[in-house]
Amino acid sequence: MITLRVAILGYGNVARALVGMLPELEPRLREERGVEIRFTGAFARRHGAWVHPAGLRAEALHVPGGPGARPPGGAQPFDGSPLEFVSSCEADVLVELTPLSPLDGEPARAHLEAALKRGVHAVTANKGPIAHALGPLRALARSRGVQLRFEGTVMDGAPLFNLREYCLPGSRIVRIRGVLNSTSSHVSDRLLAGDSLEAAIRDAQRLGIAEADPAHDLDGWDAAVKAVVLANSLMDAHLRPQDVWRKSCGAESLRSMVANVPPGTHVRQLVEIDHTASGEVQASVRLAAMKPGSHLASLRGMETAITLSTDTMQDLTIVEGEGGPGQTAYGVISDLMAVALARPPPPA
Ligand SMILES: NC(=O)c1ccc[n+]([C@@H]2O[C@H](COP(=O)([O-])OP(=O)(O)OC[C@H]3O[C@@H](n4cnc5c(N)ncnc54)[C@H](OP(=O)(O)O)[C@@H]3O)[C@@H](O)[C@H]2O)c1
Repeated sequence: MITLRVAILGYGNVARALVGMLPELEPRLREERGVEIRFTGAFARRHGAWVHPAGLRAEALHVPGGPGARPPGGAQPFDGSPLEFVSSCEADVLVELTPLSPLDGEPARAHLEAALKRGVHAVTANKGPIAHALGPLRALARSRGVQLRFEGTVMDGAPLFNLREYCLPGSRIVRIRGVLNSTSSHVSDRLLAGDSLEAAIRDAQRLGIAEADPAHDLDGWDAAVKAVVLANSLMDAHLRPQDVWRKSCGAESLRSMVANVPPGTHVRQLVEIDHTASGEVQASVRLAAMKPGSHLASLRGMETAITLSTDTMQDLTIVEGEGGPGQTAYGVISDLMAVALARPPPPA
């Protein structure tokens, strides 16, 4: 049996979903994979933090009011900074689940860097540091012989990076198309159904799918950050979010396009990553009227999907039903299993 000692930094929706699903999942993981998970620390910014060097089972973490309100049995309250937590908590893996900062990926980048420098594996669902610093973080991980994994960053837990790593050996991904922002899809469908823009956005917020600032969703910025994670990790690009061409995105463009599409047509924010004639990778996000017929056009409601065009398997399309913290937490768990089973890091 392999025991994986996990420290969680950022104890919000995804961390709670992770801790909530483990009691049921862990017996299966033990039996199927020979892995058990113990939590050696949890950190939230306002809701306190604790450490427990011997490690606690997920069941022990169910304490109302956040990790620091009443540390679980035997745990010591921790009152240092996030970086002090990363540098001192005894763990094999840091799970980084702090909020997204789309402009620079901080402070999550610094948290991941501190863990990797210590020789601690890092798993994150935060796309910011991966979009802004994948190259240096991967190099650091390699130099310390540890893994950096981020399955939850683009399509919640749907397998994209693990699919590439474990199921497509030697394949090249030559093109990617995707509908990756469920907020803009939902707002578009509500507009089509006759809602006002304001009501449609409020509804996305009520469902908890919109970013804290929904403009990030509607103006294509969230999709641009995801496009960079995909391009840099799956197509060896070196893009920054500001390199992604965002065309006709934004709430007003969405409203006007929805008002003018033929009946039966959905409007979706489409991510496209491709090669230029000179072989460079380029990425764009644009509003597109999806004509019936393609996989991406058949998406309903908040479904997201991605088509990976490969030189071996042609097009592979992955469709995710409505995603959320539970699926993202499962993506974290699949990364934890990959770390525990010491699979080699993805190819450079
Ligand atoms: N929710 C989803 O469905 C989903 C899907 C895909 C990816 N993600 C990504 O997963 C990550 C976590 O999402 P979430 O929904 O769990 O977020 P969340 O509910 O907002 O929780 C964030 C947690 O991080 C803590 N925190 C905030 N700033 C911090 C800082 N500077 N240093 C240390 N801790 C800090 C917060 O502490 P307090 O509680 O004390 O404020 C909170 O515990 C985000 O990067 C998000 O983009 C989420």
